[in-house]
Amino acid sequence: MSRFQAVVLAAGLGTRMRSKFPKVIHEICGKPMIAFVLDALEAAGAERTFVVVGHLADLVKETVGTRATCVLQAEQKGTGHAVMQVEDALLGYEGHIVVAAGDAVYLKEPDLNRLVKHHMSTKASATVLSSIPKDPSGYGRVAREASGKIRRIIEEKDCSPKEALIKEVNSSVYCFEKHHLFDALSRLTPNNIQGEYYLTDVIEIMINEGLRVEVVTSENPLTAQGINTRVQLAEAERIYRSEIRERLMLSGVTMVDPETVFVDFDVTIGKDTKILPFSIIQGRTTVGEDCIIGPFVRICNSKISNRSSLNNAVVIEAKVGDNVYVGPYAYLRKGTVLAESTKIGTFVEVKESIVGKNSKVPHQTYLGDATVGEDVNIGAGTITCNYDGYYKHPTIIRDKVFIGSNANLVAPVEIGKGSYIAAGSTITEDVPENALGVARGKQRNIRDWAVKQHKKGAGK
Ligand code: UD1
Ligand code: CA
Repeated sequence: MSRFQAVVLAAGLGTRMRSKFPKVIHEICGKPMIAFVLDALEAAGAERTFVVVGHLADLVKETVGTRATCVLQAEQKGTGHAVMQVEDALLGYEGHIVVAAGDAVYLKEPDLNRLVKHHMSTKASATVLSSIPKDPSGYGRVAREASGKIRRIIEEKDCSPKEALIKEVNSSVYCFEKHHLFDALSRLTPNNIQGEYYLTDVIEIMINEGLRVEVVTSENPLTAQGINTRVQLAEAERIYRSEIRERLMLSGVTMVDPETVFVDFDVTIGKDTKILPFSIIQGRTTVGEDCIIGPFVRICNSKISNRSSLNNAVVIEAKVGDNVYVGPYAYLRKGTVLAESTKIGTFVEVKESIVGKNSKVPHQTYLGDATVGEDVNIGAGTITCNYDGYYKHPTIIRDKVFIGSNANLVAPVEIGKGSYIAAGSTITEDVPENALGVARGKQRNIRDWAVKQHKKGAGK
């Protein structure tokens, strides 16, 4: 394995994003931009990685976590200036250094491997990874001699009209010999339109010193495309979303209309699960085998076991067992745990509640802070009144309970095993085992009451 250390540039203002957050923490299919670059570097075998942070450094540091060492660039004076900040941290290291921009989300391991391998085998002082995008505008152009040797990199803003016609661009990913890199950096001047210390200028400095500079051209026209604007962010989202879907379909997941399915990177989905249109599966969600998800389902950070069916539902931080049916129009919130063979039906909301095996909550119900046993039937319109305006209270419903329709269970309250709750009851006290809890006004019928009423209304 080729040994190298890496520097990722992530201190910039990201002005073109027009965001109050640093550019590199914006996510693509649930993964922050900078994680794409760190993933590629790790896969290619970087021994150690430094991330240069500056603008909103703390947010970037938090996203990087323990994956790399962050180094501060207090003022953002350009990409060359950013690399200079790592000099102290690299003290004592001699060897190859890969530099990459923190927004290089199309950088992949094979291109990095080719770059490092070529750099080592040619014993170059610097090797530039270039690519040929559909439209080169906005990028630094790779100017070559008639012989094909690289001459320099010219930022677009500094290009003459003729130079602007060059199609090959700098991807902002390079491999350097450490001492040659820092020698050249110490000679940089900010003599350009933007008044910045351009990392790209070290290429010309090295060539003028007679050092060997190589170029490796990526076959992927996207390689150089960093993310500068929200339009490019959306384009990356589209490209990666389609990659994720393709990977899942090839692994045995059916998607009836893939274009309408949105799945994040960290989602896993088992074989023979069918995703129906307009479904969004996000975060660290796992879906088992033989499930039917959709249409119109959103699942986030949840675990769905096998053979379950979710239709028109929103599921957030919930656990759903085997053979469960959810929906249509159900909302499973944080802390919902549904045991196997349960049913959560139409217009049901569940929060911080456990529903035991074979229990059914089929219609218009709210369960909050409830523990429901096995083989329970909860009638339409049942509400756990869990909140007194200040505190949340638990409701316990034991096994084999039958709750009649339109009951209010005022928590804290416990409904004993095998008991019944009469429809329309407002239950404020515990109900013992096998009892009938009834708490509603007694019915009386007033004979002929309506006769007078009909007379009053006659002629209308
Ligand atoms: C850069 C390259 C350009 C290349 C393009 C590819 C330079 C001068 N230009 O241009 O040749 O075609 O990438 O996407 O290098 N950064 C810092 N500190 C700074 C300035 C920038 O850390 O002071 C970081 C940014 O956060 C970003 C990266 O460096 O992650 C690249 O900066 P950006 O402004 O996006 O450079 P481009 O203009 O796109
Ligand atoms: Ca860029």
